[in-house]
Amino acid sequence: MQYGEFDDQNHPRHSTSDFARLIDAALDRRAFMRASLGTAAFILTTGCDSQSAQNTSSISTPTEPLLGFDAVASSTADTVTLPPGYTWSPLISWGDPISASANPFSHPDALTAAEQALAFGDNNDGMTLFEVDADHAVLAVNNEYINRWNFYSDTANPTADEVSKAQLAHGVTLLNLHRENGAWRVQLDGPNTRRVTAQSPVQFSGPASGHSLLQTTVDPSGTAGTGTFANCGTGRTPWGTLLTCEENFNAYFSHSAAAYTPTPAQQRYGLGESDWGLHWGRFDARFDTASEPNEPHRFGWVVEIDPMDPTNTPRKRTALGRFKHENAEVVLAKDGRVVVYMGDDERGEYLYRFVSSASFRPGDAAHNSTLLDEGTLYAARFEAPDDALSGSGQWLALKLGENGIGPDSGFNDQAEICVLTRLAATAAAATTLDRPEWVSAHPTKAEVYCALTNNTARGVGSNAGGVSMPVGGPNPRAENLYGQIVRWRPTGGDHTSDTFDWDLFAVAGNPLVHNDGLNAGSSNITPGNLFNAPDGLAFDKRGALWIQTDGNFSNAGEFAGMGNNQMLAANPETGEIRRFLVGPLGCEVTGMQWSEDNTALFVGIQHPGDHSSGSHFPDGDDAIPRATVIVVTRQDGGVIGA
Ligand code: FEO
Ligand code: CA
Ligand code: CA
Ligand code: CA
Repeated sequence: MQYGEFDDQNHPRHSTSDFARLIDAALDRRAFMRASLGTAAFILTTGCDSQSAQNTSSISTPTEPLLGFDAVASSTADTVTLPPGYTWSPLISWGDPISASANPFSHPDALTAAEQALAFGDNNDGMTLFEVDADHAVLAVNNEYINRWNFYSDTANPTADEVSKAQLAHGVTLLNLHRENGAWRVQLDGPNTRRVTAQSPVQFSGPASGHSLLQTTVDPSGTAGTGTFANCGTGRTPWGTLLTCEENFNAYFSHSAAAYTPTPAQQRYGLGESDWGLHWGRFDARFDTASEPNEPHRFGWVVEIDPMDPTNTPRKRTALGRFKHENAEVVLAKDGRVVVYMGDDERGEYLYRFVSSASFRPGDAAHNSTLLDEGTLYAARFEAPDDALSGSGQWLALKLGENGIGPDSGFNDQAEICVLTRLAATAAAATTLDRPEWVSAHPTKAEVYCALTNNTARGVGSNAGGVSMPVGGPNPRAENLYGQIVRWRPTGGDHTSDTFDWDLFAVAGNPLVHNDGLNAGSSNITPGNLFNAPDGLAFDKRGALWIQTDGNFSNAGEFAGMGNNQMLAANPETGEIRRFLVGPLGCEVTGMQWSEDNTALFVGIQHPGDHSSGSHFPDGDDAIPRATVIVVTRQDGGVIGA
């Protein structure tokens, strides 16, 4: 079975949060002013720059329409399809060198492990762009997983070298970019260019650091780990660091003992006898849970990396909980506390929120470096009258002695809650959701959106913890094939409020196949914008909501008329959704970032050619398909989407 099927069975920053209320004056306004000078057509009033503040009274609307492009028809072509007036080019593909000392990519078999360490990783996912100046930036890209057949000469029996090469293709790629004659390019050997892989040293911080649950043979201190992998979505902190989110970490662990029954905690996190065909445990004892039962506790975290300091050791922030992290959407609350919204992408898992104890202090790096270590983690409960597609909700603190969490439910300290977060959220009776993928906060008001990608077991099954998944609230359909987008507004416009109101922004469906009912989709789903499995979700600074899909691309049956996976833009006020991009055969479209002036859109094309779909993207002819970051621009140099 291909990894993408595992992904579907088992289970995503961006610059558009509102945290800049405090930092815009210091940082982003300068960037915005530069951008404005370069793009006269993109006019906003002072105070409505990138990541602008909610509650900023001077916000105006752009002079150009939010959705100013012509909708693209669905497609099954093996290329990237864009509206008239737009063009794209590849930025970097799996195996392309990030250093002049590595050879150009030619063929998978010719790529050595040493070269992979100096090349772009495989299957790019979430991205965050850190601007240096108007024409220079650092792009951090997650490399979520590998296509094993390109790494293992015999997928059932890889060699130690092949496993090592595979480990080096995971993690994060940090790239210096520069713009020349209007085109963004990768700068080989740039000062911030580096790989963080499954073999890189990392540190743990926060409540679980040093806890017995994190202690292993090679690290009896439980404070220093090795590697990050299964990196899905990202996040950006107000202090300019990257958050990279570990998702399907269970895929890498196996158990060598003949008679083995997973513990309830292992079962809840999908750990079992077999891995997903990676075979790392054969060569690297830490991936054999028979010998290292705590090693899986060292993955499933949000990891903070300073993109500007290539010597920085990544930190796993245990206060943000351990689960199959999708992305980490960071906003600043009115009082400056840091709020992080996070989804756990598996059927019937939960939506989470972290609120820091202390407030962000612009320019105080030492203070800010501890903000994600102390605070309160919450899980969401949604409430609604029967059959209503809107309602209220509350955030349940995952703290010892609160919400049913304590010795009776198996928890003796906060570290255990951080490590076994799913079990704590179940004890608190959080609401099971249809696979929470990316979360994105509106740039100028307190409103947050989350893609619930699908859930074929809704109404008929239970989650990995045996918790039933009844139909209702934000999960209104049994055996949910298409997915939906939920949004919520914190009470009083305050992201630290423990209550919120919610509604469904879109219920994906297929009006070509279904005449009525929810499977025909909400009123903003039309024959012209059909899609399934919303996954990537991000606001641009203008306030358009962009949606990327990781769905069924058969273009048949329930999915007739939807074509390849795609990217759409939505107007959150009117509800209109318009298709902007269609990806090549077999791909997932995941990962999006805009240049500071909004004239370039970086988009991730992951696993083109999946399901033997016959893709040769992006190189064409007889080339093997390769995951690729592309750059989309307007031929007139204007603002993307306008
Ligand atoms: Fe890596 Fe849930 O997507
Ligand atoms: Ca995926
Ligand atoms: Ca995803
Ligand atoms: Ca997905």
